[in-house]
Formats: sequence, structure tokens, C-alpha cells
Amino acid sequence: MNTKLNLQGRDFLKLLDFTGAEIEGLVSLSAELKAMKKAGVPHRYCEGKNIALIFEKTSTRTRCSFEVAARDLGMGVTYLDPQGSQIGKKESIADTARVLSSMFEGIEYRGYGQEIVEELAHYAAVPVWNGLTSEAHPTQIIADLLTMREHFGHLRGLNFVYMGDARYNMGNSLMVGCAKVGVNFTACCPEKYFPDAKLIAACEGFAKESGATLRFETDPAAAVKGADVIYTDVWVSMGEPVEVWEERINDLAPYQVNAALMRKTGKDETVFMHCLPAYHDLKTQVGKEMGEKFGREAMEVTDEVFESAQSIVFDEAENRMHSIKAVMLSTLENLQ
Ligand code: CP
Ligand code: NVA
Repeated sequence: MNTKLNLQGRDFLKLLDFTGAEIEGLVSLSAELKAMKKAGVPHRYCEGKNIALIFEKTSTRTRCSFEVAARDLGMGVTYLDPQGSQIGKKESIADTARVLSSMFEGIEYRGYGQEIVEELAHYAAVPVWNGLTSEAHPTQIIADLLTMREHFGHLRGLNFVYMGDARYNMGNSLMVGCAKVGVNFTACCPEKYFPDAKLIAACEGFAKESGATLRFETDPAAAVKGADVIYTDVWVSMGEPVEVWEERINDLAPYQVNAALMRKTGKDETVFMHCLPAYHDLKTQVGKEMGEKFGREAMEVTDEVFESAQSIVFDEAENRMHSIKAVMLSTLENLQ
């Protein structure tokens, strides 16, 4: 590999554990692996290894990305679904970690609290990768940064605006990732949805080092002025009770990404991003149910923006696979 990155033996639990240079190294490695895949160049660098995927919440992109990436790297995969394992119910995290470490070279975990994946990693003898917790979604951010770098040719100095619930996994991880690699980050939402004050303080330190700015805005028009990227996520995340929909819609409807908001950036080149899945129409079970109940055609983003030429959400989704491959390869092998 041309990208020299030695993360061998490290866990990938949250971006706070990595330097800006390491995060950018992962983005570069993702790009290199993507180019190899497109050119049909085999890259079975982890031949003969096996990984376990634990999903306590559902997934399309993350699961498929881990599975395809593992196969491209020459590895075997075992998937444990939300019902299919003893974890937490009949066997502790610590015991699970030790059992899986004796059979697998790496473990992916998607679930609830960040402390669960941290505990799993503490007891595991092999790298543990966070496939989403309520607090963090670090593999998503590597894909997002790759997508932005592909689109704009660079990361440093880009103006990135996150609209919506900024206290949850996506808002948190995007803020850390942007601050560490020099992307100017703005969160735009009512104050009660701003990220945790301690995390903001840490990110202010990273931003100072990287040259990025951090802003917290309640006014959408002020937030998006000059934005290169407008990003949003669902208003109600996996694992949250259905009762919170009403409050979220009331609070976050003014922060919906729609064509009028996209125009307020003052730039024609602004792109729209979303980690997906998205409620941009009523063609999903939940979208339809909530849309009809609250009289809305879309939630966090309109169909018009989602389907527009400014939307790069499917490039972003594809990049999940290339970036998860980079995370696995760099933590399993020495690439120096
Ligand atoms: N973006 C993302 O993590 O998608 P999935 O929930 O489908 O894995
Ligand atoms: N905030 C969302 C992200 C999904 C990728 C959730 O946790 O459901």
C-alpha cells in the first residue's frame, strides 16, 4: 500500500482516540482501496482471518460494508443478529469478548451505550470496531470525509453545517472528525440539541490545533451562509421510543433541509449529505406512519433535495464499504 499507517492492534471505538493525521490516513487508505477495487486489483491482505459482527440494532450499509470488505480482504465473516447471540442476556460482555477473541481476529459491535463497546474492547484480545453506538458512529465519518475529499479535492477549510439533533451519534462524531482534520463545523438546532459541553470543549482544543472553527447556531439562515456541505440525520434514532417523534418534529421542523435552505448558502456548489437511512418521503413504514400522523411529506430532508444533483448521499453510502475496509486492514495488519 502507498498509504503508510500503522494502527495494528488498535481498537476503532471513537474518533477521540485518533489524531487528525491518523484520521486523514484512514481516508487516504480508503481512497487507495477504492481505486484497487475499481481497477479489479485483488487485495486479499487478511487471507485466512475471520471476523465476528455483532448487531444489537439493525443495519443495511454497515453490515453489508463489513461483510463485503471482509470478503475482499480474504476474510471469513460470522454475523450475530440482535436475537442470535447470548450477549448481555445470558452472557456478560466480558465473557463474550474472551470467547470471541479465541476464534476471531476482529470483532465489530453495533448497539446501545458507548460503554458497552468500550467494555467489549477492554476484555477482547483482538481489535474491536464500533459499528454505531448511541454516542458515536466513527466508521461513518471516515466515509463522509472521503466523500467530501473526493468531491472538493481537499478537506481543510471546508464549511460543514450539521442540521438537526447534534447531541447524538452523528452530530458528536462529525464534530470530532471535522475539528480534528480542519473542517469548519457548525451545528444548527435548538440549544437543547447542542452536543455535550465537555465534548464541545475537547473539540475546541482540536479545532485550535487543526485551524478549524466550531459554531453553534439556532438560526438556520445564519448557519448555512457560505456552507460547502449541509448534512442531516434522522430526528429519531434507533433505540429511541416512538413517543419522542412529536417533540422532535415540533423542535426540529424549522431545521429541515429543503430547497429554500440550500439556496441560502449563497453557493451553487453546496452539497447535501446524509448518513442514511433518510425519511425524505412516505415510502417507508415509519415515514408513512409518522408523516400521516403529523401531516408531513418528509422529515429531516425533502425529497426534492434528496433527489437533487446537489445530493451526494449514494456516493457517501458506497464509501462506507471502502472506509470500513481501511479501518479493518489498518488495525489488523502493519502497513508501514
Ligand atoms: N449509515 C448507516 O450506518 O446505515 P445502516 O444503519 O444501514 O448501517
Ligand atoms: N442517528 C442514527 C444514525 C443511523 C446511521 C441512528 O442512530 O439511528
